[in-house]
Amino acid sequence: MCGIVGYIGYRQAYPVIIKGLKRLEYRGYDSAGVALLNHGLKLYKKKGKVADLEETVIGMDLNGNAGIGHTRWATHGEPSDRNAHPHASASGELAIIHNGIIENYANIKEELVKKGYHFTSDTDTEVLLNFIEDIKRNNNCTLEEALRIALKRVVGAYCILLMDKNDPSCIIAARKGSPLVIGIGKGEHFLASDASPIIEYTKEVVYVNDYQIAIVKADELIMKNLGNEVQTPFITELDMELAAIEKGGFDHFMLKEIFEQPATIHDCLRGRLQPEQGIITMGGVESHMEKLLNTSRILMVACGTSWHAGLVAEYLFEELCRIPVEVEYASEFRYRNPVINPGDVIIAISQSGETADTLVALENAKDKGAFIFGVVNSVGSSIARMSHAGAYTHSGPEIGVASTKAFTGQLAVLTMMALKIARAKGTIDESRYLQLIHELEAIPEKVAEILKDTSEIEAIAAKYQDAADFLYLGRGYNFPVALEGALKLKEISYIHAEGYPAAEMKHGPIALVDETLPVVFVATKDRYYEKIVSNVQEIKARRGKVICIATVGDNIIPSMADDVIYVPDADELVGPMLSVIPLQLLSYYIGINKGLDVDKPRNLAKSVTVE
Ligand code: AGP
Repeated sequence: MCGIVGYIGYRQAYPVIIKGLKRLEYRGYDSAGVALLNHGLKLYKKKGKVADLEETVIGMDLNGNAGIGHTRWATHGEPSDRNAHPHASASGELAIIHNGIIENYANIKEELVKKGYHFTSDTDTEVLLNFIEDIKRNNNCTLEEALRIALKRVVGAYCILLMDKNDPSCIIAARKGSPLVIGIGKGEHFLASDASPIIEYTKEVVYVNDYQIAIVKADELIMKNLGNEVQTPFITELDMELAAIEKGGFDHFMLKEIFEQPATIHDCLRGRLQPEQGIITMGGVESHMEKLLNTSRILMVACGTSWHAGLVAEYLFEELCRIPVEVEYASEFRYRNPVINPGDVIIAISQSGETADTLVALENAKDKGAFIFGVVNSVGSSIARMSHAGAYTHSGPEIGVASTKAFTGQLAVLTMMALKIARAKGTIDESRYLQLIHELEAIPEKVAEILKDTSEIEAIAAKYQDAADFLYLGRGYNFPVALEGALKLKEISYIHAEGYPAAEMKHGPIALVDETLPVVFVATKDRYYEKIVSNVQEIKARRGKVICIATVGDNIIPSMADDVIYVPDADELVGPMLSVIPLQLLSYYIGINKGLDVDKPRNLAKSVTVE
């Protein structure tokens, strides 16, 4: 899940590429590099962040109106200068950058070694490049033709950009599985893994499909399939502003995105929720209501934070719609050979819409006749385009690697879906339906209420930032929130943390509890309240340090817990959109107190585009 940028046109390519790589750095930051075409090929690359590369090239020849750039998340070969992209071919005539994994690279490498090829890196990408060069040389064909032949042998996922020093007039690109967007300018073209490096230059873009090749010149864009047939590019208008991908005065994107949630949840509800009329408008649901009403089960398929949203949705859909729900880790679901019956409904949840584990799981299920409903944030992304229907979360670009506003957006969409289907199915009475619509409508304001004063959360973060481990506990709708809180802390602070159903403690994990272990309870007022109060006492009996997320006005929990963070009262079905906010902030403040890069945590990337 590397970041890829390319430019060809009248501008100097280097500044466009460097700026673009910085915008994509959330996709991987193990190394960075650029290749520029100007009277030959010049390659510059460096282990570390884009800023380290900039240091390295001071005083170098950075001229050229065509270039490609890469920021890496290492898969094959450790982060190092020699494994950094771009790679040059054995002859030095070709350069490549790649996002993805070539699964059969070892076989191809073996063949090339027998032919006398030597490799300077451990990467699958260098193998692919020399394979292409070998075909080009042996068939005496064009780079484009050699690429087409090579791709028919390649197994895996890729977005690649190629340049040939003997043909400085174009950049050749290809994609399968990993995302690629091409920005169309006047006398120039931009290529990138997503729209963020392109938005400041043009809003006209083409989302490249799987098995497509693009021949990109300054004033021409040719799209072809692997069968060498020309295909008309489908140009769409970007619905995003540059400000959306800037920090807007916040120290970090993560903090900005946490504070954006009153607005992003409102944007998600806007035009869909009409509380006065008691109406929820969702085109994707309406046009496929029959399928949703008659399905014998719903499968939620996702990864990471999106999987936690799926878990909340399991409670929602079973309670409101009385439809059995299974929540699947996409990576396991893909290879478990699950039983999928035609007509089964799969709700695919993904912020980026590019997560490979989820994408391949859906393609597999789609082949078996499942109906795919996508709940996605990134407009035009692969999962959005491969779903039969869907609903965008409208959370805006999420740059911080730790997902925050997309999670509450996912919960808002899934809650509206469950309410709409339940009403159509007659499994909810009208007063409850209307009550929940109003509860949902009130969420943005209640989130704003929580964000008004974060001083208590900052103090608690400072108190526990040196803990070695954390436990997060919750029941019912708050159990997935506990899991999410634990994930946020792990991602951002590198502190080991586990989330559990609170009652599960007695079956083992309670052995971990002593005076050094902070235990975070999501203990807001709901049908499980009395039970969770007993669970708090069980932990206090073992002298654990208890931090509770409690409902404003609760006077029992404060008498037991060491620290309490209050959230406004709300119905338990919409409560997760409130109780998660303090947990997002707790992980953020602990992360910055530890001096960590909370927007680009180590070893992570925003969009996991490799299996
Ligand atoms: C969450 O903070 C992480 N970034 C990660 O777990 C993420 O949720 C997961 O990779 C799924 O991503 P998606 O929603 O873009 O598919």
